[in-house]
Amino acid sequence: MTARLRPMRPADLDAVLELEDQLFAPDTWTRAMYRDELARPDTRLYLVAEDGDRVVGYAGLIAYDDEAHVATIGVAEDRQGEGIGALLLDALLAEADRRSPVVLLEVRADNGVAQELYRRRGFTEIGRRPRYYQPSGTDAVVMKREVPRG
Ligand SMILES: CC(C)(COP(=O)(O)OP(=O)(O)OC[C@H]1O[C@@H](n2cnc3c(N)ncnc32)[C@H](O)[C@@H]1OP(=O)(O)O)[C@@H](O)C(=O)NCCC(=O)NCCS
Repeated sequence: MTARLRPMRPADLDAVLELEDQLFAPDTWTRAMYRDELARPDTRLYLVAEDGDRVVGYAGLIAYDDEAHVATIGVAEDRQGEGIGALLLDALLAEADRRSPVVLLEVRADNGVAQELYRRRGFTEIGRRPRYYQPSGTDAVVMKREVPRG
């Protein structure tokens, strides 16, 4: 795995939206949604994983003082299983831990690989949101990770 992380820039959005379509269709975010997110760096951290000049993964965190939220994470289909998703998630969690004691996320109920990845990082299921993902109508599992403050 030779991917390196750096902050997402507006110039990455063509590549990110291509991955978004590959990974999350039909429940994809739009360019306007990503532009809005990138315009709020005070509470957002969006990263891409880059191999050479190819964006092979991306992830985003929304962080407030009392709660952070893993907004998205995805790795190109032909690069999954190399540790890139774990690298992205660990970078988000390091930032989340600096900013807030609680991290939440939603994950598709039918996505066992991602749920397992989150469980190994200390997330536990706290609830379900029926038909959360639209337009597909897929249920979400809500997961939470609390870091004790010393
Ligand atoms: C979920 C996702 C981000 C994980 O990224 P990745 O780069 O493939 O994952 P990694 O290579 O870092 O592996 C993370 C863990 O998942 C396991 N894993 C990865 N692919 C797997 C597979 N197909 N089957 C079983 N386990 C798998 C790895 O063994 C690894 O376990 P470890 O931490 O014990 O070593 C990626 O598969 C993806 O983009 N999936 C589609 C989009 C998605 O579901 N995003 C999450 C939405 S909440």
